[in-house]
Amino acid sequence: MPDDSATISVKRMETFRGKHMRFAVRSALVAGLLMTVALPSAFAEDKAEDAVKYRVALMDVVGGHTQSFFALLQGKVSHPEDLAWHADSLAEASKRVKGAFTQNTAGSGVKTESKDAIWAAGSEFTKLAGDFETAAAALSAAVKSKDQAAIGAAAKGIGASCKGCHDKFKED
Ligand code: HEC
Repeated sequence: MPDDSATISVKRMETFRGKHMRFAVRSALVAGLLMTVALPSAFAEDKAEDAVKYRVALMDVVGGHTQSFFALLQGKVSHPEDLAWHADSLAEASKRVKGAFTQNTAGSGVKTESKDAIWAAGSEFTKLAGDFETAAAALSAAVKSKDQAAIGAAAKGIGASCKGCHDKFKED
């Protein structure tokens, strides 16, 4: 067998480069993570555009779980095993609503369906967000009880909670 050292050294180079690249990528990822962890502070003002995107994404999560929950409840789809997951996830997501709307983006020029009244003095928004948390927790508990009447009543409560806040604080 001829000792093809040129081939071997090219192979070694490739292995080295491969490892090196992987290391470089990993370091960049880690640095990125550290930066993301280090930057935000609890009271930072985010870019208005990002603040709006974040709360809209949260409301989309809320909307997704609600839509799926009702489709299951009304028997339109047959995945009964998912009912509790949607109710529990909605209860979890509801706890984030208050916090996602703390930054006043009125006058920022960013397109939003949030009415400025959310941030007006004495606004009822925080109270309605709290009522929503209570309603979502009740729904999750009702599903666990497996009591159909209780589930129906709690589902109505959820519908009323969405509508109550949207009527007052969301543009159509
Ligand atoms: C405490 C007030 C409040 C409650 C309760 C609430 N919402 Fe909202 N929701 C808002 C506001 C305000 C917006 C507009 C967000 C924006 O555009 O900045 C919104 C936006 C949305 C959106 C639109 C997101 C998009 O893609 O533009 C959906 C979907 C939604 N809500 C679903 C629901 C559902 C379903 C419920 C009840 C299970 C609910 N919301 C409960 C205040 C509320």
